[in-house]
Amino acid sequence: MRQPEPFKIKMVEPIRLIPREQREAALRGAGYNVFMLRSEDVYIDLLTDSGTGAMSDRQWGGLMQGDEAYAGSRSYHRLREVVESITGYPHVLPTHQGRGAEKVLFPVLIRKPGQYVLGNMHFDTTRAHIQLAKGRPVDLVVDEAFDTSVDAPFKGDMDTGKLEAFIREKGREQIAAIVMTVTCNSAGGQPVSMASIRETSRIARAHGIPLIFDAARYAENAYFIQQREPGYRDKTPLEIAREMYSYGDGLTMSAKKDGLVNIGGLAAFRDEELARQAGGFLVPYEGFLTYGGLAGRDLEALAIGLEEALDPDYLRYRIEQVRYLGEGLREIGVPIQQPVGGHAVFVDVKRFLPHIPPHQFPAQSLTVELYREGGVRGVEVGSLMMGRDPETGEQLESPFEFLRLAIPRRVYTDRHLDVVVEAFGALEGRKDAIRGMRFTYEPEILRHFTARFDWV
Ligand code: F0G
Repeated sequence: MRQPEPFKIKMVEPIRLIPREQREAALRGAGYNVFMLRSEDVYIDLLTDSGTGAMSDRQWGGLMQGDEAYAGSRSYHRLREVVESITGYPHVLPTHQGRGAEKVLFPVLIRKPGQYVLGNMHFDTTRAHIQLAKGRPVDLVVDEAFDTSVDAPFKGDMDTGKLEAFIREKGREQIAAIVMTVTCNSAGGQPVSMASIRETSRIARAHGIPLIFDAARYAENAYFIQQREPGYRDKTPLEIAREMYSYGDGLTMSAKKDGLVNIGGLAAFRDEELARQAGGFLVPYEGFLTYGGLAGRDLEALAIGLEEALDPDYLRYRIEQVRYLGEGLREIGVPIQQPVGGHAVFVDVKRFLPHIPPHQFPAQSLTVELYREGGVRGVEVGSLMMGRDPETGEQLESPFEFLRLAIPRRVYTDRHLDVVVEAFGALEGRKDAIRGMRFTYEPEILRHFTARFDWV
């Protein structure tokens, strides 16, 4: 039996589907870019699972108990203790969100321009902060990640053979750090196995290279390990998380995902010196060491959220709900990244709209059509997001053309997800007539957020 929602709902926010003509007008006004829509005009918002979750009654109660002190607040110390109890890392820096943690860490790790930061697959902001700190991001995820039809349990794994070969070829001095992103968002929310984490750690330690977790969705990753990896069935998600962190040296975290808060982030370290150096950037960029751009109430809600996200019933409900949407889509023949990942269903638009070439952004076309059809907002993760080669200016071709449907935590019911499947059902019948898109305005950096489009 599926895990029912392990909560009851005691506060609601009304949503409604605006009429089709209004959706058409909203799309035109937004330049066919769903980032430019008003959220009020969206019926079911699956743009992101980041900062969009519902807090619990305990968290809302915690807001009232937040201690608003500039330095050394009770809420900071409570958060620090919770983070250490989960990770074993005693040195904890709060930040305003995940990219704040990246911003203070990479300049410390990258000691010489041109050094590489190796990862399974870096998220865009991670990639950007590595580059801003004059480093070079490299993705070394296993090959199965790129074949959406292969149903493998851990498609977010590091290819440790490639990792070792890369370090040998370039030399230890050229490597600043290894980043393991759990779960691996860019590969479709795919989990990383403990075996891959352990082997990556062995390699990192053998060469004296720091291993950092991008821990945005670490609790969901722990659940997948419990379900799929031999030897972990009887362990709790907390025990699995503790083992995972024991193999690393620190973490950056967007707490807007598995922290179950609407804003917040963290960096945490085993080593005091690393924390001291990152703290040196924290103070000017984010805020003093014990608040990092957050209010005391935010720290309090985060401390509670971190504990709630490891609850086994919650995790089972969460992962099964995402899978429910994936299965609904698969049943009506929509191709998706298999198996379904932790936080989102990734529709394989290369296979759904094969007639639209990558440079006409097929996943953007489908994102627009999905909103037009059902008021549902997803997001393009493909060649549009990938952008141009910084040196040649040529449009890069992404290995994936995904439409990501990210599910906010504890927000929508299964019935809402049925509506999403119904919208795809309606699109199925007219998909051959969907056209590609072209820019009418293309900004230079992070273009997908603010670009405007028209039909080809
Ligand atoms: N790392 C990962 C794996 C992420 O998915 C994100 C954000 C970040 C870092 C950056 O964190 O947004 O708090 O600054 N992902 C969001 C998403 C935006 O929609 O997937 P942030």
